[in-house]
Amino acid sequence: MEPIAATLVPGDGIGPEITDAVVEILDVLGKPFIWHIQQGGISAAKESGDPLPPALLASIRRTRLALKGPLTTPVGGGFRSVNVRLREEFKLYANLRPARTLLAGGRYEDIDIVLVRENLEGLYVGFEHFIPIDGDPHAVAISSGVNTRAGSRRIAEFAFDYAVKHGRKKVTIVHKANVLKALTGIFLETALDVAKKYEGRIAVDDRIVDACAMQLVLKPWQFDVIVTTNLFGDILSDEIAGLVGGLGMAPGANIGVDAAIFEAVHGSAPDIAGKGVANPLALLLAAALMLDHVGHGDEATRLRSAIDGTLRDDKVRTGDLGGSASTQDITQAIVRRITRR
Ligand code: NAI
Repeated sequence: MEPIAATLVPGDGIGPEITDAVVEILDVLGKPFIWHIQQGGISAAKESGDPLPPALLASIRRTRLALKGPLTTPVGGGFRSVNVRLREEFKLYANLRPARTLLAGGRYEDIDIVLVRENLEGLYVGFEHFIPIDGDPHAVAISSGVNTRAGSRRIAEFAFDYAVKHGRKKVTIVHKANVLKALTGIFLETALDVAKKYEGRIAVDDRIVDACAMQLVLKPWQFDVIVTTNLFGDILSDEIAGLVGGLGMAPGANIGVDAAIFEAVHGSAPDIAGKGVANPLALLLAAALMLDHVGHGDEATRLRSAIDGTLRDDKVRTGDLGGSASTQDITQAIVRRITRR
């Protein structure tokens, strides 16, 4: 396995503890990455005045691949969201959020859904303004969404290609084309057109977003891959994470034209930082997505089965999962599973 250069951002709060754990586990898996470590978040803001320093951006520009620990957003000081800046800088148009049941005994068993969210367009373009009336500066609020044919095609092709590559059976297009006829109509129309190229290989259906939200709670097993616009994807991805026990073990990938950045969905957890009890699994699952992305699918599968075995059979779990294991305990348990074969 030829190691691949990648940027590693330990981040803030529990970030350094969970990135240490992930690096240790990946080393045992065969050192698939050569890490270029960069500071970001509050630690970087204290040093350079910017939570997203130029050195970090330059590193990702070189490696085009990053694993990012959670970054604390400094309050005040007019900082723009680091995540939004990264998305724009590297044109990270696809947000991939897989969710699968890892622990039995939760509300739903056997969930395995991948949500693909368009990450750059829609209502998140920020074309907003107020119109003042009669001395009220905020009397009217106006927001315009932008979806393009090209952007819709790109994300739909990403979702169908992902489905083919990962042996998935169906893609569900989620929209609100009955009301937002132009904005989400173009998305539905384009995605259905893209689906024709995959006929016979990947089934397609579509849902109106409100019906989809209800169906996810009533009968989530009917969904396989979901592709949707920015705002709907933001909401549904959290709902789907909730089906498998919350954000604690949810990984995410932001994939774009110029780079791909992998991260845990949770934040820097300042309340437990430095205590050695943080759960490293969300970041570890993000590393598994990164392995998939660079074509190391076998290692990704080994990693996921070591995680499954540790949770289900060895029953080693951190406090957030109802156990009493420390970050080190679960790290060593996963290392033992990987080295056992
Ligand atoms: P959070 O996700 O950091 O914490 C929420 C709760 O979940 C806390 O009780 C925390 O202890 C627990 N938790 C989170 N991750 C955990 C883990 N791996 N193991 C065990 N318990 C865990 O959300 P919060 O408190 O709203 O945000 C804290 C900071 O993180 C903020 O500055 C926020 O801006 C930032 N943040 C950064 C994100 C990123 O970089 N992608 C995403 C979300 C928040």
